[in-house]
Amino acid sequence: LVNGGGDGVLTGKRVVITAGPTREPIDPVRYITNHSSGKMGYALAAAARAAGARVVLISGPVSLAAPAGVEVRPVTTAEDMLAAAGRAVDEGCDIFIAAAAVADYRPGAVAEQKIKKSADDMTLALVRNPDTLATVAAREDAPYCVGFAAETTEVARYATDKMVRKKLAMIIANDVSQPGIGFNSDNNAVTVFWPGGQRSLGPAAKQVLAADLVQLIAERSSQGRD
Ligand code: CTP
Ligand code: CA
Repeated sequence: LVNGGGDGVLTGKRVVITAGPTREPIDPVRYITNHSSGKMGYALAAAARAAGARVVLISGPVSLAAPAGVEVRPVTTAEDMLAAAGRAVDEGCDIFIAAAAVADYRPGAVAEQKIKKSADDMTLALVRNPDTLATVAAREDAPYCVGFAAETTEVARYATDKMVRKKLAMIIANDVSQPGIGFNSDNNAVTVFWPGGQRSLGPAAKQVLAADLVQLIAERSSQGRD
């Protein structure tokens, strides 16, 4: 099977997906990260591949196997992710999906030696990380850009704000305040927004949801960005 058994809605398309957390070093033995498992991004990569796409998966540190037929490019930090995404889009990209949970801040300076404890309290100075998705979406040759928004409150408002601010074609909103879905879970429920429309999907296993999301992305991206 040429397209891995899918129905080929993305045959001939090049898809770049970010997944997993990033890991921001503090010193040689410590880092800042988050609870992202990478499961949603990996499931999307497998589903896009099954739909016939050529898929590059830019992945932060996760404990998942590479989906069959998908090219995985491992990265560690948010800055690594930005660089890898830029290269992948340069190589040709029709659809960019940012499923990674990127650390918004990193330690301003990485200590060369292990930090020793001394005072009763300490302060870690953090600086803002670059935004991979916003950077890709701002390109003159921007692909069809899909973001995720993990929110705990006012999900629709924050998600659509993000879509507009980052100039996205679509945003997939996750209510991470609900137990048993989203971060580090096998299941997810989302509401997808695009300019002028929305659709709710799930709750369902991330694999099932990923296949539905890929169908929706294929459908909408082939209609242009309006
Ligand atoms: N994203 C990214 N690079 C970053 C931060 C976020 O590519 N440095 C992407 C995520 O992969 C996701 C989308 O942007 O697709 C939204 O991420 P989110 O953390 O929800 O939004 P932020 O813009 O970081 O805003 P905040 O965390 O303050 O809600
Ligand atoms: Ca964030």
